[in-house]
Amino acid sequence: MRIFSGIQPTGRKHLGNYIGAITQYVAGQDRGEAIYCVVDLHALTVPYQPEALRDAVYDTQATLLAAGLDPERCIFFRQSDVPEHSELTWLLMAVTSYGELTRMTQFKDKAGAQRELVTAGLFTYPVLMAADVLAYRAHEVPVGEDQRQHVELMRDVAERFNARFGETLVVPEPRIPAVGARIMDLGAPENKMSTTGGTAQGTVLLLDEPATVAKKIRSAVTDAGTEVRRAPDKPGISNLVDILAVVRGVAPETVEQEFDGSGYGAFKQAVADAVVDYLAPVRERYRTLRGDEAELERILEAGADKARAIAAATIVDVRAAMGVGAVRSRG
Ligand code: TYM
Repeated sequence: MRIFSGIQPTGRKHLGNYIGAITQYVAGQDRGEAIYCVVDLHALTVPYQPEALRDAVYDTQATLLAAGLDPERCIFFRQSDVPEHSELTWLLMAVTSYGELTRMTQFKDKAGAQRELVTAGLFTYPVLMAADVLAYRAHEVPVGEDQRQHVELMRDVAERFNARFGETLVVPEPRIPAVGARIMDLGAPENKMSTTGGTAQGTVLLLDEPATVAKKIRSAVTDAGTEVRRAPDKPGISNLVDILAVVRGVAPETVEQEFDGSGYGAFKQAVADAVVDYLAPVRERYRTLRGDEAELERILEAGADKARAIAAATIVDVRAAMGVGAVRSRG
């Protein structure tokens, strides 16, 4: 089984990314052939600083290595190093519905919030994401809940391609965790945790100092009640129950039973302690890994060589199926 996922380059990855996606990437290394990429081309779809982009890729890469990605057990690379992603994006445009792209909630949210230029890249973002996955004929895509619609779209694109041009692409399945697929902002628990749309106080960054992590969790917005249990009218407490369950590797019900009657103060302190312990080793390893850019670059290059071999073979098949270019044989 082949697994593929991508992550945007930023040094400000948060607990939602970690719980919803990064822990799944790490587990994927034991479940199949795992391929992960830092999607620097996707970062061009919103205003960005060219001089900061390369560093942001290293920041994200070092974070993922610190979390447990092992370049010996997965293919780990930078999207722009494999130009096949860009070529496949254009080819897939031929089977992507304009109407479907206009219905993407992430596009609507980001375009609505954008004060500067709303680019064509922001609109076609999901096609590049489809190309990322389909280039590797991946079976499974580990993501958080917010990416479900994009994975649905890439499934439609693959199905439409196969129906129009013959069986060529694998239709991938999303892999969304049962608990922790949508970690909420601690300060505004009706919104997802996010570095772009969320509150600073409500977003636990993976590289935050332990004291900052603890303070953000202890200040989490809860409700007027006292019961530690998940309920639609208790989004703050529900979120903390989910976080503690994932961090401890237990069911949310177990957390509810343990803190039955203990009150919010003791519960929040327990969540703060657990998250601090959970993130501390990641932060320590990050510091060492981030210091050696030559080694980070070496890992990316080696990953890109392996990734390219797979993606190039898919492109040959896609071009042939579509009648594009001279007749070429694989390989
Ligand atoms: P990105 O970089 O925004 O987020 C990385 C992963 O983190 C998940 N996530 C969350 N999970 C739980 N709770 C949250 N609050 C939360 N916030 C984010 C996201 O669902 C994601 O899995 N478009 C993608 C990157 C991408 C990609 C791909 C993913 C590009 N190509 C191909 C899969 C396959 C994105 O912006 O992720």
